Amino acid sequence: MTYSDLSKSIDELIKSHGLPKREVYLDHENSGLIIPEAIKAMNEAYELSGKGHPSITHLMGWRSYQALYEATVNIASVINCSPEEIVYTHSGTEANNLAIIGSSELSPKRKKIIVSSIEHLSVIFPAEKLEKRGFKVIRIPVDGEGFVNLDFLSKHVDKETLIVSIAAINHEIGTIQDLKAIRDIVRDKDDRILIHTDACDALGRIPLDMKKLDVDLASFSSHKVYGPKGVGALYVREGIKLEPIIHGQLSTQKLWPGVENTPSIIGFSKAVEIIHRNFEENVSKMISFRDRLINGILSNIDYTLLNGPLGYKRAPDNVNISFLYCEGEALTVELSMKGVYVSSGSACTSRVLEPSHVLLAIGRKYEEAHGSLLMKVSPFHTTLEDIEYVLEVLPDAVRRIRSLSPIKPKVR
Ligand SMILES: Cc1ncc(COP(=O)(O)O)c(C=O)c1O
Repeated sequence: MTYSDLSKSIDELIKSHGLPKREVYLDHENSGLIIPEAIKAMNEAYELSGKGHPSITHLMGWRSYQALYEATVNIASVINCSPEEIVYTHSGTEANNLAIIGSSELSPKRKKIIVSSIEHLSVIFPAEKLEKRGFKVIRIPVDGEGFVNLDFLSKHVDKETLIVSIAAINHEIGTIQDLKAIRDIVRDKDDRILIHTDACDALGRIPLDMKKLDVDLASFSSHKVYGPKGVGALYVREGIKLEPIIHGQLSTQKLWPGVENTPSIIGFSKAVEIIHRNFEENVSKMISFRDRLINGILSNIDYTLLNGPLGYKRAPDNVNISFLYCEGEALTVELSMKGVYVSSGSACTSRVLEPSHVLLAIGRKYEEAHGSLLMKVSPFHTTLEDIEYVLEVLPDAVRRIRSLSPIKPKVR
């Protein structure tokens, strides 16, 4: 389907169904909605400080540099690192690519890359790219809740290992990994092995202190903390010498050439500040919405399975449920007609009708993975009324999609 076909069919759909009376956005995995404070900070930056090129030596450039630096100091103070250890990219995807591919030439003797089997595709695909160039890629299996098998990690990590990359929080099923245990296993074997964590889904959900975590590299994405899209960052611990993976005119940072998008970085920094301002309150808000949604669905809709762990081991914002005998993609369209916006399975593959690799890795069958919905609540955009509305419309939507499904539950 082309974009113009798609746009025509959206118009037709709206004409025949009308616009929903109420809208509830729970698709913060695909794209976190920006908060007004970040928009305001960006607008001011476009008007004032962020207009010039931050590497250029005239007043407008200096102002821009100063604004960029202040934004960086702000982020660095939240994650406890130095501003010089932050490299901006244009997305979390780019930060993950930079971590994996940018480290590949560090040590010619180290040809082993260890990732978990449930990493985001922006970690898995660069690792696979390097596999084609002769690296050995080890995929650590996970248990039924998505926790990496630490014995397996311990068995495979060795002096040939270049980098171990495991996300702090899994983007699909919300598993909060024990990064301290992972780090201890790796450092015990060899403290020159790089440890990277994709922290795109962890920032603003769990405390992240780079010094305490003691990782070498960590990736972040602005829209995942309700900042603007198209900005990311990689924490690169002082002394770690990555190679740039794109080349061009140098900016204020050596690892990512090109003019920085100063206003967007300022928006990102503001979003990081806001989500951490009342951190505990924001987290408990997310947890209460999450648990109401999970409990409401599991207790009111038959043939449902929660994907991922429960309680404090689960990301505060993550709800991922398989609806058996139901096609997830069809359910998202049905819900969309009622103004409820969610995604099916992996957000990043929701235009691809492949079941999520994460759900398969935790042992879900194909049909269970196909019938999954991924919903993320937000401390800034979600209300309890929203959750109650979703719980009100969801049973009917599931019933309708199930009535169209050729596979029915066996009569007990
Ligand atoms: C865990 C994780 N890593 C990386 C990314 C990619 O970030 P971006 O959308 O900024 O490219 C995402 C995006 O959803 C994510 O959830």
